Amino acid sequence: MSNAIIAAWNMSLEGVKAACELLKNGGEAPEAVKKAVNLVEDNPGFSSVGYGGLPNRLGEVELDAAYMDGSTGYYGGILGAKGIANPIDAAIKLSKRHLNCLLSGAGAEQFARIEGLAFKNMLTAESKKKWEEALEKEKTSPGAYRGHDTVCVIVRKDKHIAAGVSTSGLFMKEPGRIGDSPIVGAGLYADSAIGAVSATGHGEDIIRGCLSYEAVRLMEQGRSAQEACKTALAAHIARMKSKGFAIKDVSLVALGADGSFGAATNLKDGEFTFVYADETHPPAVWTISGGVQHIAAR
Ligand code: GLY
Repeated sequence: MSNAIIAAWNMSLEGVKAACELLKNGGEAPEAVKKAVNLVEDNPGFSSVGYGGLPNRLGEVELDAAYMDGSTGYYGGILGAKGIANPIDAAIKLSKRHLNCLLSGAGAEQFARIEGLAFKNMLTAESKKKWEEALEKEKTSPGAYRGHDTVCVIVRKDKHIAAGVSTSGLFMKEPGRIGDSPIVGAGLYADSAIGAVSATGHGEDIIRGCLSYEAVRLMEQGRSAQEACKTALAAHIARMKSKGFAIKDVSLVALGADGSFGAATNLKDGEFTFVYADETHPPAVWTISGGVQHIAAR
């Protein structure tokens, strides 16, 4: 089975390239997830992840991250933590635990300190300026910014599948608001025997559909990664519509244990980008047309 990496958004391209090199040089899936996510977290140009992430209404950068190992079923995550330079590193360390693997706020920060993880002020001058402008405009309701959201990375190395996510969440969110990313089954789900799925977009709408778990469950029933993403998202859209509301932006990426990959979105054609690489496809940005229907060529 070909090794492969899929990651949400074109911001992941450099991280995926570095992770591919790591795999070629003998690295394993967890290290490749960490490498790809770290490069996005460290880049202040990406305003929805890690350093340079846009803050909550109080001007504080609150970070969510999670990691799930598809071979052990173990997962770890941090919720609403501040100042941890690489949130995915804390999530990966927590995933070694059976219990106490999902920590919020001060508890997550204390864990990261004990583990010797780096801390820094995650609010850049640029992000602070955007926050001040938003305050001036009295933008008091949460809003997403298109084109950049959670970094979601799934790696398949031999028969081992692992997934990691990291985000600063919605700009101007309520302090303490948690999105889908650290919620296993919503923001990500991985099972090396079946496949893995990760979600990006409006966390509240992703959580409502348990979308990552749902798509993995469909893969278990024999759907390809692409069919599973498409079906899970389309059914969620229809179910919520029947209850009287339209979900906001949601996109999914997936790798199957069968070698398949897939993605689905309810954004307009071309708006959702992802990065895919395997042994015959060098890392490149892909997009989707036809809503949840098709993956377009690169
Ligand atoms: N999908 C990221 C969030 O809603 O926080």
